[in-house]
Order: sequence, then C-alpha cells, then structure tokens
Amino acid sequence: MLVEVFPDYEAISDRAAEIVTDQIRRKPDSVIGFATGSTPLGLYKRLIQNHAKHGLDFSKITTFNLDEYVGLSPDHDQSYHYFMWKNLFDHVNVTPARVHIPQGMADDVDAFCEWYERRIEQAGGIDLQILGIGGNGHIAFNEPGSSLGSRTRIKTLTQKTLEDNARFFDDPAEVPRYAITMGVGTIMDARKVLLLGSGSGKTAAIKATLEGPITAMVPATIVQLHRHAHILVDEAAAATLEYRHHHGITEPK
Ligand code: PGA
Repeated sequence: MLVEVFPDYEAISDRAAEIVTDQIRRKPDSVIGFATGSTPLGLYKRLIQNHAKHGLDFSKITTFNLDEYVGLSPDHDQSYHYFMWKNLFDHVNVTPARVHIPQGMADDVDAFCEWYERRIEQAGGIDLQILGIGGNGHIAFNEPGSSLGSRTRIKTLTQKTLEDNARFFDDPAEVPRYAITMGVGTIMDARKVLLLGSGSGKTAAIKATLEGPITAMVPATIVQLHRHAHILVDEAAAATLEYRHHHGITEPK
C-alpha cells in the first residue's frame, strides 16, 4: 500500500486529480471506476478544470460507477446518475455510450448485475478505481458483513443509511431501501485502487483499514491485499495511525 498524508482535503483533491489525469494522459482509453459521495467532489472539480484549461480528453475513457439506488430514475436528483452527470460528466467530453452506472430501474436486477460484471470484463477490466470510505469502513454499498469476495449485486441498505437519507426525500416512502453495488471482489479486480479519506469522521475507519486485521466487518480492510492500493488521507483522517512512519507513508514536500 502506498499511503500519502496531506494537510487537508484540498491537498488530497489536488493529488487525486494528478493521479487520475496522469492515468488518462498515459492511457487515453482507460477504464475508470468512479465513486459518488462528498469526498471525490474536489477531485471532480479539478478534472473539469483540467478538461477546460488543459484539454484533458475524456472521449475515449470507459467509466463504471460503483453503485446506484434501486427504484430511483436517472433524473431523480438523489440518484447517483444525476450526481455523476451534474458533478462531472456534463462538464467534460465523456462519450455517453461508454458511461456505465448501475440501473436503479432495471426490471430484472439480478440479470442487470450479471450484465454489469460482464461489461466490465468486456471493457478489459477497470484500470483505476476511485473509492471513498464510509465512517464504518464500507466501500461502495458493501456495508460491514459484506462478503469480501462479493460481486455486483443488490444490497439492503442499513437502518443508519435509511435514516441519513430520509432528509433528502419529501416523501418517506420514496427513500430507497436497496442499492445495486459492485462487490468487494469486483473492486479488488481493478488494476489500481485509489482510496480517499478526509476528516475526523473517517479517522477510525482509516486506522482499521490500514492497521487493523482484514475483516468483512470493515470491508475497506481488503485493500491490504491489493497489489496497487494508493491511499490519500488528510491529517484528520490519519490522526490515530500508529505506524505512520513505518508502512510506506510519504510526506509531500
Ligand atoms: P462521503 O461518503 O464521501 O460522502 O464521506 C463516502 C462513502 O460513504 O463511501
């Protein structure tokens, strides 16, 4: 694992943008796994700038998003489709036919999940997977207890997630109860994973992920088995790391 500690969120976003930009420049037809959530927003803002100011070309990349709520249409403002187009894809020159986000409205969810796995394979596999991390150590919607070998499938959202999401919906009946998510095994097949953790809400999860035993109760700990895991954290998220100077952490100049 390559772990880099930065002073703050902005510095993590700068570094993440450098890594993703470099990936696209070196391999214009890269297959990139995108994540939603607040953490990658700074990265996406910078990618948009790199496109506008420096001509970073997204036209040949293929994208696969980690997850989507079941039952929300792509134009619902809480859907991850909506999130990705609003925060990144609408502002760069992605080729829509190469964009893949799980379909929350799929008639046959199981068949869709199998198709999604096949599409990733047909695209040649994911070159670089961007990941956030939940305060409980989840990655995508793989909550504690998820099989570490899991593939894309439907998951029941935890009570905590339902409660957290309720405020975004006028009608409580609309709050999604299920999500389609890449599995932990799907994520591990990516050639590189780039995990971003920022703020004190992530301190315990980062400590467990980098220094704890590998366990399904903290799905992010599986990155310890990945051959090319790159982890970017800020001082707040790194606050309780004991082996900070012993497990490959580099301090930026
Ligand atoms: P966040 O979510 O980026 O909004 O903190 C990360 C996650 O839950 O995976």
